[in-house]
Amino acid sequence: MTPFANPPWLAPFLSHLPNTQPEFTLATITPTTPPRPAVRTCIFRGPLFSLPPNPRNPVRTLNPEPPQLSSSLLTFTTDARMSKFTELSANPNAELCFWIPTFETKPQWRFRGKVYFFSFDGAGTPKEAGQRSEVATDIETSAIEGPAEAVEAPNFAVNGEGGGLVSWRNEVLRHFANLGPGMRGTFANPAPGTAVEEEGMGRLGRKVEDWVLRKEFLQQDTEGKTSPAAQEEFKAGREVLYEALGNFRLCVVKVDGVDRVDLGERDGKGKRWIYTRSKDGWETREVWP
Ligand SMILES: Cc1cc2nc3c(=O)[nH]c(=O)nc-3n(C[C@H](O)[C@H](O)[C@H](O)COP(=O)(O)O)c2cc1C
Repeated sequence: MTPFANPPWLAPFLSHLPNTQPEFTLATITPTTPPRPAVRTCIFRGPLFSLPPNPRNPVRTLNPEPPQLSSSLLTFTTDARMSKFTELSANPNAELCFWIPTFETKPQWRFRGKVYFFSFDGAGTPKEAGQRSEVATDIETSAIEGPAEAVEAPNFAVNGEGGGLVSWRNEVLRHFANLGPGMRGTFANPAPGTAVEEEGMGRLGRKVEDWVLRKEFLQQDTEGKTSPAAQEEFKAGREVLYEALGNFRLCVVKVDGVDRVDLGERDGKGKRWIYTRSKDGWETREVWP
C-alpha cells in the first residue's frame, strides 16, 4: 500500500469534474533567457490506469477488467512536436488549473507537479524506465496478481496474452485509441507551429480509423477487408497510424502540491485548502480563502 496512490484531494477533485471533457489551463516555463510562463488549454484524461470504459475505444479489450492498478497521477495527451513538449523536456515543473463552475461549490483546483512523457515506442528505453520508477510511488499495485515487476514490463499484451498484463505501452495505446479517428490523425499532421505551405495540405485531416487499430493490435478484421484493394487501404492506414503514434505522448503529472478554493462555499465567502506532499503521505490544511 502506498499513501500516495489515493491522496485526500483525489476523490473530491474527481467528483467535481463535469461529464463533458474537463478542460484545464497548463502553465509551463520556457527555456529562454529570461524564462517566461506559457499557458494553454488542455483536456484532462483522468488518473493513469483509470481510463473510463469507452465503448467507442476500438482496443478497449486491452483494458484489464477488473482494474488492476490505480493511481493519483494526472494525465493529458499531446504531440511531441509542440512547444509544451520542448518546454517540459527542459523543465518538467508545471501547474494545472481547473475551474469547475458546473459544480455547486464552484471550485478551482491548482496542481503543482512534474510532467513525464510516455510514448508507444519508448517503453523499453532507459529514459522511460527511469521515469516509471519516479512515478511508481503514486501507483497502487496491490491488486496485481503475480510479480509486481510486471508493472514495469514494456511488453505488449494483445488479446489478454501475457496474463492480461497491464503494461505502460498498453496504457499509451489505450489513450491514443480513446481519441476519435480525426483527433488521432492530427498527430500525423504537418508539424504544429511550422509555416503553412501547399505540400502539407495533403497531410492535414487524415484519420486513424477504428478498423485499422483493431486489425493491427487485436488481429480482428471486423470489416471483412480482405481484397487486394482493402489490403492497400490497410497499408496506407497503418502508415498514418504509426506516423501519428510516433508523435503521440501520454503526459503523466506527479503532483506535489494542491491548492483548492471552493468559492461557492459559506454562502459565497469561500473555503480553501492546501494539500502538501511530505515523505510519509499527504497533509491537508484549511486556510483562509
Ligand atoms: C478546448 C481545447 C482543448 C485542447 N486540448 C489539448 C490537449 O489535450 N493537448 C494539447 O496538447 N493541446 C490541446 N489543445 C491545444 C492547445 O491549447 C495548444 O493550442 C496546442 O497544444 C499548442 O500549444 P503549445 O504550442 O503551447 O504546445 C486544446 C485546445 C483547446 C481550445
